[in-house]
Amino acid sequence: MDIKKEIDQIKSSAEADINAAKTGADIDNLRVKYLGKKGPIKDVLSRLGTLPPEQRGETGKLANELKNSIEALLQEKAGFLGPAAAAVSAAPKVDISLPGKPYRTGFRHPIYRTMDEICAVFSKLGFSIVYGPEIETEFNNFEALNIPLQHPSRDAFDTFYVDNKNLLRSHTSPVQIRTMLKTKPPVRVIVPGKVYRPDTPDARHFYMFHQVEGLMVGEDVTFSDLKSVLSMFAQKMFGSSTKTRFRPSFFPFTEPSAEVDVSCIICNGKGILQQAEKEKACSTCGGSGWLEILGSGMVNPKVLQNVGYDSEKYTGFAFGMGVERVAMVKYQIDDIRLFTENNYRFLSQF
Ligand code: PHE
Repeated sequence: MDIKKEIDQIKSSAEADINAAKTGADIDNLRVKYLGKKGPIKDVLSRLGTLPPEQRGETGKLANELKNSIEALLQEKAGFLGPAAAAVSAAPKVDISLPGKPYRTGFRHPIYRTMDEICAVFSKLGFSIVYGPEIETEFNNFEALNIPLQHPSRDAFDTFYVDNKNLLRSHTSPVQIRTMLKTKPPVRVIVPGKVYRPDTPDARHFYMFHQVEGLMVGEDVTFSDLKSVLSMFAQKMFGSSTKTRFRPSFFPFTEPSAEVDVSCIICNGKGILQQAEKEKACSTCGGSGWLEILGSGMVNPKVLQNVGYDSEKYTGFAFGMGVERVAMVKYQIDDIRLFTENNYRFLSQF
């Protein structure tokens, strides 16, 4: 066949192919097909020597022009398909319109969430957070806290003993001792953590629960400081209209001692609920209007002496609150066992 005709045919077939190209990969393939080492243009050029000498120059020129014009067409089409065309066509086929798999993010356990909230309130009041071990010495858990040998809580049946002198702490108060033995006044700490008591599980009791202990010792720390700190806490935690009530109580490590109640968040301290024209006693607070959340008091001077503090110079207050109790009040949970059952439907509500 006449070489010029051949060049014309290559041209029209290349144009048709480039026109039909849809992806970057098509462009790449066409470049190899027409301009590659085994392509028709190379073939034409290699045969120039077989032509009569006077035709060689013109044919060579035509072949080179064709090569340039195919290259230009390929580039133009690649630009039209977009810069991502080559990458997309080379990548494995993914249906990007398919909805993704739902991704479950984790969340804090309600007890730890509540504990964080409690700690955040006290942090703002200048308390620092400290921790203590769950296995305690009898000295820290009892002796130093002025709990006498005859006290029922020191009985093996009232505590989990690990050996003769060590036990699972029955409250976070031993961390008061650890802190005071390590630092000089002023002291202002809160202690979140787990505590253990051999209680038979029911709606309100469990053998493991959480407390947040508070301790402030310094010069001129008074009962009114305790009252204002705890009232402020209650309002931050349960709402600004929350009232607090201090009831006389007894703890060997505080003197005087007080049990602290907050006004019931369900009936607003009224003790009664309006339900469909009728009044009925509020079941959350049992009709009393109050919910107990913690024990507190002024640090017993004997405890200050036990850690080598000058009890004439320094005074302090301490409190210990049940985190489960606070969470139950705040989120209206009526059974403490729910916190440890690992029920996803329950836990995912928080
Ligand atoms: N440790 C006491 C308890 O577990 C609570 C408490 C702490 C009371 C600090 C007074 C002061 O019941």
